[in-house]
Amino acid sequence: MRDKIITLTFNPAIDKSASVPLLIPEKKLNCTIPTYEPGGGGINVSRAIRRLEGSSTAIYLAGGYTGRIFTKLISAEGLDILPIKTRGSTRENVVIKEMQSNLQYRFGMPGEKVYPREWQKCLTAIEQIKDVAYIVASGSLQSGVPPDIFGKISEIARSKNARLIVDTSAEPLRRAVEAGVYLIKPNLKELASLVNKDFLSIDQVADASKEVIRKFKCEIVITSLGPEGAILVTKDTTFKITVPNVRVQSTVGAGDSMLAGIVLSLARKKNLIASAQYGVACGSAATMNPGTELCHLKDVNLLYSIISKNASSI
Ligand SMILES: Nc1ncnc2c1ncn2[C@@H]1O[C@H](COP(=O)(O)OP(=O)(O)OP(=O)(O)O)[C@@H](O)[C@H]1O
Ligand SMILES: [Mg+2]
Repeated sequence: MRDKIITLTFNPAIDKSASVPLLIPEKKLNCTIPTYEPGGGGINVSRAIRRLEGSSTAIYLAGGYTGRIFTKLISAEGLDILPIKTRGSTRENVVIKEMQSNLQYRFGMPGEKVYPREWQKCLTAIEQIKDVAYIVASGSLQSGVPPDIFGKISEIARSKNARLIVDTSAEPLRRAVEAGVYLIKPNLKELASLVNKDFLSIDQVADASKEVIRKFKCEIVITSLGPEGAILVTKDTTFKITVPNVRVQSTVGAGDSMLAGIVLSLARKKNLIASAQYGVACGSAATMNPGTELCHLKDVNLLYSIISKNASSI
């Protein structure tokens, strides 16, 4: 059965987290023993798919000592991986929690430049995988990766008869829909930028999504609305998906879990509405866990059983 999912990550990172009693400038601060977690759009999608008892192949760029740690971390989670070696080192982000205030400080480091030979190898890697049903390209682009990379991936997807799903922002998102994608999952801000607006209200999502489908080459828009759920729009359907109240601990990684749920459900041959609902259940389930933790299957199943009774056409 043709159900293979590939995820692509051009800007992976290791999240290094630790706590300090109090953040004080100019002083040497004693942190707790750090924990290391692999991250980056596509990688998180692959990790979440694994938690949902599905499988995917994660293609990603990695280099240097940190790249080796990165690969070790994701291998330990049982993912099927295809790392593409880079001259530059994989970036590390630092997350420090101040215990006294219970506040998190997140320091993001830029990635090192990627060379053309390196990103081209990612494209060759996709071309060489057989029986691909879905290609998920998610996250930002590291410097050196051209903004029209998703255009190139769109051509490969077409030649393989695979469906391309893109979750990114700004110029790379625009280039993707210009070249042709099956599905995008913008948030409100990302959707607004596609229709040349600074801001959109929830009431304007359906029309903006229809405009995207009309103007660009994009079949499906699923706009995620945080606690408000999501709106699914195709040429002839508009569906609002609401979420039940959940105890939110951290919204980090909610978008990636949502995307994992959507693509896995589609690959399992579920219909579009059910897949969008499953994605929303995964996104909301991810918010029930602290820090960067992704969704748990038992929370997903519970939320999905509620959400699937609630959806309504608008
Ligand atoms: N506060 C919340 N309460 C309940 N569910 C939430 C909340 N925030 C996010 N979600 C769930 O996660 C999904 C994706 O969230 P969101 O719209 O914030 O994505 P995003 O902006 O792409 O996030 P990310 O920062 O992960 O890229 C939502 O559709 C919803 O199902
Ligand atoms: Mg997002």
